[in-house]
Amino acid sequence: MSLESLRKDLSSSNTMALPCVAEQFFELSSEQAISDFFYAHPEDVLILGGGSNVVLPPVIQRPVVQVVNHTLECIARDLDHVVVKVGASVVWDELVAWAVENSYYGLENLSLIPGSVGAAPVQNIGAYGVELKDLLKSVRAFDRVQRVFVDLSNERCCFGYRDSIFKRECGRYVISEVVLRLARKAQFVLEYGELKTLSHEANLSLSKVRDTVIGVRSAKLPDPKVIPNTGSFFKNPVISRSTCEVLKQRFPSLVCYPAGEGSMKLAAGWLIENAGLKGYVQGNASVHDKQALVLTNQGGAQQQDIIRLASYVEDKIKDLYGIELEQEPILIRD
Ligand code: EPU
Repeated sequence: MSLESLRKDLSSSNTMALPCVAEQFFELSSEQAISDFFYAHPEDVLILGGGSNVVLPPVIQRPVVQVVNHTLECIARDLDHVVVKVGASVVWDELVAWAVENSYYGLENLSLIPGSVGAAPVQNIGAYGVELKDLLKSVRAFDRVQRVFVDLSNERCCFGYRDSIFKRECGRYVISEVVLRLARKAQFVLEYGELKTLSHEANLSLSKVRDTVIGVRSAKLPDPKVIPNTGSFFKNPVISRSTCEVLKQRFPSLVCYPAGEGSMKLAAGWLIENAGLKGYVQGNASVHDKQALVLTNQGGAQQQDIIRLASYVEDKIKDLYGIELEQEPILIRD
């Protein structure tokens, strides 16, 4: 097998719109092509999905690979559920729209999240009370260590808050398909603030929930096509209940939620806003003025500008609260 590599400009293939050129770019569109490629390339390779959770450097010398798999099919169904197989390159929100059109319940709260289906398990995407792990049955991926395709069960994916085996063992698994289990009977998750009012509606429809989620997201989160960004740039920190109580005494309006036994999750957006950084502009990069957890490219920013702004925010948060913020997107070095 010989696969030709292309030099490819990735500036419009990452939602932060950072200038980036891949010196060797490959599209792999079958399981055979994936396994042949990785037999021939045991070296470090960057696997790129929809580019919505990466901070790219100006040049990438190592091979960059994109899996092309547009599969979207129901592979099993019973009265209550349907099992759906989805290819890695399907656009996430197109999958959600398809599920809503077909009256399959479960994905609607995850409407409008940018990126591809193959990238979704990497950071266990989540929004408005739902995480991918709640719906995922298994992930089909090429394991570069064992050099075979494997079907990883939900449990083996080791999902956590914005975390998974794919993030922890970065570069080991090349995701080609995701299998989801969706409900055929109405069941909604409406605990999140702005969705609560929907729980009083008679005959609530899937499309009403999707439209509401789209409305909430659009009001706070910048559309990457208009203002380039990677969604939340930092994770919400999880700290001990006792540390949280001490902080709450110093900052009575601190926003926090219970996060399992003895732990509390802080709203990093609040920490950043309360530190006076909401809307802060540093050169070509900024802290979004409607949601402080999002860093944006104001036009012309490079990876270095985003790194500088992120470090500035992290230092301020550490100084003020003693909390270390953890970045959500993956910083790609070459
Ligand atoms: N807040 C502020 N100022 C801000 C932003 C937030 O004070 O600028 C406070 C508010 O009190 C608000 C609370 O933080 O009530 C929570 O804010 P929001 O509901 O917007 O959610 P978030 O915690 O900032 C998380 C996810 C989002 C997801 C929303 C909704 C993370 C890192 N982010 O954000 O996910 O859409 O909840 O479920 O967990 C993403 O991961 O890219 C992402 C956008």
